[in-house]
Amino acid sequence: MKILELLKSRKSVRAYQDKTVSKEDLEQLVDAARLAATARNVQPWEFVVITEAKTLKELAALAENGRFLSEAKAGIAVFCGDTKYYLEDGCAATENILVAAATLGIGSCWVAGDKKPYVTEVAGLLGVPAQYKLVSLVALGYEKDDNPSDRAPKRPLKEVLHWEKF
Ligand SMILES: Cc1cc2nc3c(=O)[nH]c(=O)nc-3n(C[C@H](O)[C@H](O)[C@H](O)COP(=O)(O)O)c2cc1C
Repeated sequence: MKILELLKSRKSVRAYQDKTVSKEDLEQLVDAARLAATARNVQPWEFVVITEAKTLKELAALAENGRFLSEAKAGIAVFCGDTKYYLEDGCAATENILVAAATLGIGSCWVAGDKKPYVTEVAGLLGVPAQYKLVSLVALGYEKDDNPSDRAPKRPLKEVLHWEKF
């Protein structure tokens, strides 16, 4: 699928089939993440891939808006060193994961990390040293039911596009 078509069809997926995501695919997702744009090419990111059901359930228990992590087949926690642009860099890497997952036919959903009260607990659970900041958690798995009516409404192009001036 061409990238623009893919971007038009990508959506957050929060319910998953009982089907494992392969280690090769998970590696590809992190490979895509590490290629993201990054301010001054600092590349402050570190990625923790989670496949153990127990850990996914523990993450779900911490993330009040990410309870579906307990049903996910895998997750990727995006951490960044404490750099000036850590949040922008970590978000760029996270978006790459979402887009790469869609390319591979894997459903995904971004679960908030930065600013959440569970950042320290998530880092502790995953054995991440204290100097790293949690940017996001990405839930992964093959979509259970593709219901087009579940799609999040998007603001139309003509509403958001301003030529030359606002
Ligand atoms: C920074 C950020 C944090 C998000 N956190 C959550 C979250 O905690 N739980 C969740 O279910 N979705 C979360 N999302 C996903 C959004 O809800 C979703 O992208 C939005 O509703 C648009 O839907 P779409 O991804 O299907 O286009 C987050 C997305 C972003 C960019």
